[in-house]
Amino acid sequence: MTRKFFIGGNWKCNGTVDEVKKIVCMLNGGEVPCPNHIETIISPPFIFIPMVKSCLRTDFQVAAQNCWTKKGGAFTGEISAEMLKNLGVPWVILGHSERRTLMHETDQVVAEKVDYALSQGLKVCLCVGESLKERECNETAQVVSRQVQAVAARVGCWANVVIAYEPIWAIGTGKVASPEQAQEVHYNLRKWIDCHISCQVAQDIRIIYGGSVTAANCKQIGGQPDVDGFLVGGASLKEEFIEILNARN
Ligand code: G3H
Repeated sequence: MTRKFFIGGNWKCNGTVDEVKKIVCMLNGGEVPCPNHIETIISPPFIFIPMVKSCLRTDFQVAAQNCWTKKGGAFTGEISAEMLKNLGVPWVILGHSERRTLMHETDQVVAEKVDYALSQGLKVCLCVGESLKERECNETAQVVSRQVQAVAARVGCWANVVIAYEPIWAIGTGKVASPEQAQEVHYNLRKWIDCHISCQVAQDIRIIYGGSVTAANCKQIGGQPDVDGFLVGGASLKEEFIEILNARN
């Protein structure tokens, strides 16, 4: 069983034209493992996607941070999956906790988005994760499997999906999950997938960790058997992202 390590840099709502140029320059100059060993996506805000795409190194792929639930049309302010595909954007991040919480995206909305994006030929990084309260109530496994179940109810093929486990309490807080905590959730989620989707999907699907990943903690977390990479927020805007990309070296 070999699952290719997968690392995403999610820039969230950050960057100016000058900052984007600097970050891309930093990424282009970085020494990273060859694409046989790692798959890397960079996810700028929508408005910077064409600019990033035109000058980013070719061994990195571009991802959007969201897309519309269904075919485009009279949906002011939305970006459709077709538009991303048309622009040559291969990946989209869906179900990020910031969208679930701030934009009130339910499990069902996220599932609808994943289904539609996949049907349009996009690859999806599906984010799941529990709040601090849910963790303290020992509900982590239940919450994460419920979020995946909602998608499983609509999606039959998981070949183009990566799951990002991102505990909400670890996002942007500096309180990273311990390697053991990450491994436990990833292991349980893989077991759940084995029972409820298929043994093959459980073996093949990449489950990556997100939440305060830094150069200092990436090696230990990335060394866990069920951790197949990272979704990185804050640190993906800095030079240390290159170190993170080398976590398994
Ligand atoms: O998408 C990335 C995650 O939300 C993690 O963000 O690395 O800033 O904690 P962070």
